Amino acid sequence: MLLTNEEQSMLDGEQGKAVRKAMQILATLGKIYGAGRMLPVRSVQIAGVSYDNLGDAGLEWLAEMADGGGRARVMATLNPAGMDIENWQRLGISPEFAERQQRVIDVFARMNVITTCTCTPYLAGNEPALGDTIAWAESSAVCYANSVIGARTNREGGPSALAAAITGRTPEYGMHLDENRQPGVTVEAHAKLPDTADFGALGKVIGERLEVLGRKTIPYITGVDTASMEQLKSFCASIATYGGLAMFHMHGITPEAANVTPPGERISIAQDDVMKARQSLLDASSDEVDFVSLGCPHLSLHEVARVAELLRGKQVTKEFWLTTSRVVKAAADQLGYTEAIEASGAKFAVDTCCVVAPIRGRFTAMATDSAKACYYAYSKNKFKTRLLDFEQVVREAIGD
Ligand code: F3S
Repeated sequence: MLLTNEEQSMLDGEQGKAVRKAMQILATLGKIYGAGRMLPVRSVQIAGVSYDNLGDAGLEWLAEMADGGGRARVMATLNPAGMDIENWQRLGISPEFAERQQRVIDVFARMNVITTCTCTPYLAGNEPALGDTIAWAESSAVCYANSVIGARTNREGGPSALAAAITGRTPEYGMHLDENRQPGVTVEAHAKLPDTADFGALGKVIGERLEVLGRKTIPYITGVDTASMEQLKSFCASIATYGGLAMFHMHGITPEAANVTPPGERISIAQDDVMKARQSLLDASSDEVDFVSLGCPHLSLHEVARVAELLRGKQVTKEFWLTTSRVVKAAADQLGYTEAIEASGAKFAVDTCCVVAPIRGRFTAMATDSAKACYYAYSKNKFKTRLLDFEQVVREAIGD
């Protein structure tokens, strides 16, 4: 791989141990994937933040990088942590876990990473522009960046994302190359999709259909005339979860979709397919639900405002978590939404989420509007699930 003098000096260890290690990681990745050169990155989003996933070995590795002088050279934020740093007691997190999770956050802070922990960095100030080269790790955010914003990123692992932050580089392969951003199949959606839950269900249908075909190919999706940012983030999370996709083209939405030709091979998705996908994530009865969660991916301010309106003057009867970024929560505080929400007994779980928090064994069934959250609620925590429309989820929490 061709390296600039600056990059070679990083690899030679002239800029410290951590920079050398980071460049070694990226050079190795570049070699494996046949990259010709490194690209400068404008934005990084790092996963592997929850102590639940990292463990002591991961924490030790991060501390070594910080001790070795690793410092972010570009804008870098974090994926959700295993707990709300300020509100962990109220959410039932143990002091032992909290102490270790705090150490993880502190290590990232030492490396000049902005320690806002969110899977919607584009709603929290880490917002790339069309055509930007970035290195993000969270699968739903990667899909959103490539498909909705039109930035370019592979799905980074925790170490490669941190390496990109420390060097300001990423190897040029995969989604950074035009030829790998071309669609391979046209997907015609013939379905009404009024809610975020419907978009999640559509992502499940398309993701699974491509998996069955054994085709990890980029779909060119038609038939979705309009979609809100919230619906798109739900769709991105779902298609990345159920299909392992880092990108799709959606007619009228994806910036690059206007410049590609829809492939001749076609798949058709009917309303019934979307309804069946919803049904498949509805195996818990209302009586069984003992945990309610909205915010996978993290809630936007608009969604927080909707919840505040629905909860005003009401009391929740079930444990209800709203997961969002600290940035959105701060705005909600100022606008009075937090007060209305907390007065109902609902809880903010800020900079964390119902998947990365250590809640296995605490609940048996979860209600949510997120197809992705359903997938992990079952696979990670063995919860039954109840996929509902956004407003129905709030009603589930208040026993309406
Ligand atoms: Fe975000 Fe957690 Fe869902 S990281 S996309 S809220 S699983």
